[in-house]
Order: sequence, then C-alpha cells, then structure tokens
Amino acid sequence: MTFDAHPRSSLIVALDFDSLTTALKFAKSVSDLVGMFKIGSQLFTSAGPEAVKQIAALGNGIFLDLKYHDIPNTVAGAVLGAAAMSGVQLVNVHSLGGSAMLRAAAQAVSAGVPMGADRPRLLAVTILTSMDQKTMRETGIGGSPLTRAVKLAQLSKKCGVDGVVASVQEARAIRKACGRDFLIVTPGVRPAEKSGERKKDDQERTATPAQAIKAGSDYIVVGRPIIAAEDPRAAAQVIVDEIASAK
Ligand code: C5P
Repeated sequence: MTFDAHPRSSLIVALDFDSLTTALKFAKSVSDLVGMFKIGSQLFTSAGPEAVKQIAALGNGIFLDLKYHDIPNTVAGAVLGAAAMSGVQLVNVHSLGGSAMLRAAAQAVSAGVPMGADRPRLLAVTILTSMDQKTMRETGIGGSPLTRAVKLAQLSKKCGVDGVVASVQEARAIRKACGRDFLIVTPGVRPAEKSGERKKDDQERTATPAQAIKAGSDYIVVGRPIIAAEDPRAAAQVIVDEIASAK
C-alpha cells in the first residue's frame, strides 16, 4: 500500500448505491478529496466486479467490503478472488467466523501475489457498529461491545489478519492490545451538526472524525454524511479538515 500522508488518505467513502452509473458519477465528483472508495454488498450485488474495475480506474484505492463469513474453504476462495482484482487495497471477513476461517483468509490474501508485490490488507469485522449490547445478546454474543471487540481483534491478529473494522469506542483499547502496526478502520463516523447533535441513522456506536483519529483509527469510513449530503464535496472537505486538525 502506498503511504500518502495527506489527511484525505484516511478518508474512505462508502459508495452505498445500487447503480454503477450513479456510483461512478458520484465517485468522480469527489475523487480528489478522498483516499479510498468502499464498495459494499449493495453496489457489488447489483454491478459485480465491473464496479471494482470502473471505480478503481479513477485511481483511488478500493476497500472491498463484502464481509465474508462462511466455511474456511469458501472464504479462502472468495478472498483469493478479491485479492486478484486490480485496485483492491482492503478486503474483509467477519471475525465471528472463527480461527480456522481467519487463518484460511490470511493465507489466501497473500497467495497468488508475486513476491515483492504489494498485496491487499485483510481486515476482520469485530462487532457491527449498528449493534449495541441488546442486539449482541439477542444473537448470543456475550459481554460488552468493547470486551468482545478487543478479544476478536486479538484473535484476528493471532490468525494473521492485518487489522480490524471496529467502532471508535473500541479503537483505543484495540490499539493498546494489538500494537501500532495493526490496522484499525472505523465506520459509524458522524460529524457534529451545527446544532451540536449527531445524526446516527442506523448506527448505534458513533463518533466524530476527530474522535476517531485521536482514538487511533488509521482510516475512517463515511457513507451517508457524504453521499446523502446536499453538497457532498463540502461535506467531504469538512471531514478532511477535521482529520487534519486531529492528526
Ligand atoms: O452511511 P454510513 O456512514 O453509516 O456508512 C457506513 C458504512 O460502513 C456502510 O457501508 C456499512 O456497511 C459499513 N460498515 C459499518 N459497520 C461495520 C462495517 C462496515 O457500518 N462494522
């Protein structure tokens, strides 16, 4: 991964659209202001690998956020395929798939990449930022989001995963437990509104961009606050400025 010290390199914009035409038009309009674009299940389901190809051609890196969670062999095949797509710099799995699945994914992300060439980095989702303790209990996941996320991050690291997707509330503890080189990517980021309130949408564990960077995030993922803004360029710029002042 090329290291670009500009604050915009920490901003990943989630292209949560269902049409590639719309996503591409949007991506072009903000590509100079952001680091990477995130292609998730919505856009990938409707447009497939062609979405990765066309968005990657803009020159920003791609975070392919398909959160694989299946048996180890199937996940390894999917990660191998994702790693072979040109422009993909980040790819992810669910850490709840367990150690065999995480190890298989970590091996797959390096396989097929020529010696010395850069490979995508593998992330593991700890606990979705839309989940709170009640939703965790509902699905049989014990403990607090913080305790669980740190434990899942440690497990992921042990299995050879490069980093995690976690909420800002857990970033500091994960950094402490997993060290400086472990990547931390935080969604659930909401800039403070002028009223001082924060629009959460369906996110439960939210924080501002500055809080995210101060807590140790390497990248922040922002969707609706930019893609649904009246002026997306201005919204992105405010966030980049906030990242710059927090670094
Ligand atoms: O619109 P918003 O800023 O809430 O978008 C956040 C993005 O990050 C979405 O694309 C969502 O799928 C993704 N994400 C998340 N929580 C995770 C992992 C990914 O919100 N744990």
